[in-house]
Amino acid sequence: MFGLKSGLKDRTTSHTHPADEQSTALNQHFWMPFSANRDFRANPRMIAGAEGRYYIDDQGRKLFDSLSGLWTCGAGHNREEIQKAVAAQLGTLDFAPGFQIGHPLAFKLAEKVASLTPAGLDHVFFTNSGSEAADTSVKMAKAYWRLKGKPEKTRMIGRAKGYHGVNIGGTSLGGIGGNRKHYGQLMDVTHLPIRCKRAMPILVAKRKPAQSWPMRCWIKLPCTMRRPLPP
Ligand SMILES: Cc1ncc(COP(=O)(O)O)c(C=O)c1O
Repeated sequence: MFGLKSGLKDRTTSHTHPADEQSTALNQHFWMPFSANRDFRANPRMIAGAEGRYYIDDQGRKLFDSLSGLWTCGAGHNREEIQKAVAAQLGTLDFAPGFQIGHPLAFKLAEKVASLTPAGLDHVFFTNSGSEAADTSVKMAKAYWRLKGKPEKTRMIGRAKGYHGVNIGGTSLGGIGGNRKHYGQLMDVTHLPIRCKRAMPILVAKRKPAQSWPMRCWIKLPCTMRRPLPP
């Protein structure tokens, strides 16, 4: 996940996490996701802070964050203007439930997103994570076909090696066998190989209307990280 930018150690300040001062032992309470917990405890890699495009570990080393915090910090880490905006909002309204009451900024953000998306994608449903987005899209596809009078459209298609998060829909649709093996059949999903020469023409190229396709939804990974990064 991280690329070590060598030679930068001297230029960094030392970041220590407040918790480290109280307890240097890696306790057993935190169950790390998608991580070999025992191996991590034997060889911990602790991130203590971040600046711009770098993480800073507990040794003060800078690590180039090539994944932008799993695509959540595309604008860079700890940007001052983002800190200020978050602090201002926390001083105005920290949280309000989204059921039956609204906040003007949610409407404003939805309008902004709709202005950026292609025509026809004009409604925005906010979720808190990619996992929740994947599950929500499965529910929406199911509701859509039921409203259209086609409840029999139940099949879902994912791609081998795809990753769609940790909830039930995303785990089922994901094509990484190791992530599903403990759970048996969660949802009925057909996983197509990454490069499937026959399936795509059958499903798409005949250009049959979506009503006649047997499946309810087909989830695809965005094509990020496919090209080599520029130097
Ligand atoms: C395509 C895709 N869907 C879903 C997810 C899950 O997102 P989150 O970790 O925010 O739940 C990811 C995360 O990497 C993803 O890449």
